[in-house]
Amino acid sequence: MPNALRMIKDRQKAMFSVLLAVRTIARRAMRSDGKADFPHLKSLLEYLDRFPEKLHQPNEERYLFKAILSREPSLSRVVARAQRDHAASKGYLVRLRAALQDWEDNVEGGMSQTAIVADDYVRFARRHARIEERDLLSVARKVLNEKDWQEVERVFSAAADPLAASKSRQECTMAVRQFSGLAA
Ligand SMILES: [Fe+2]
Repeated sequence: MPNALRMIKDRQKAMFSVLLAVRTIARRAMRSDGKADFPHLKSLLEYLDRFPEKLHQPNEERYLFKAILSREPSLSRVVARAQRDHAASKGYLVRLRAALQDWEDNVEGGMSQTAIVADDYVRFARRHARIEERDLLSVARKVLNEKDWQEVERVFSAAADPLAASKSRQECTMAVRQFSGLAA
């Protein structure tokens, strides 16, 4: 598998893990006293904003999708759909941030809304990953040449994702801690 595709999978996994963590924290709080570590939750959302949403998805569009289109122009509708998904994904993050803020401000329903939006967001991200694999990455494997892959890999490597690079749960926890420090 080209290294760039492995990087996409690792980044998707990191994104899903972060969203599942937000969902789990909110669901647990609903079953207990409703309290949460808000700085930690905010650092998880900050990660989603900085890496998957503002770096990885734009890089996919600018480099990977562009390379696929230059080899296979008939995929323009499929690429347009993936781009619409990326835009919609940002909408989920806006809603998640608003729900979390409501929860922290003790607004009625904020905590349950955080769990619901995190769940919707991860379902959407997983569906997007499945469709991207089926309609775009499977074609990329066939039509992109060595040079195309090197260029995509170069750009993806430059946008070093601290969570996707983590190899274990412990490393992930450390990366989030470090990231919270950076985000503070
Ligand atoms: Fe994508």
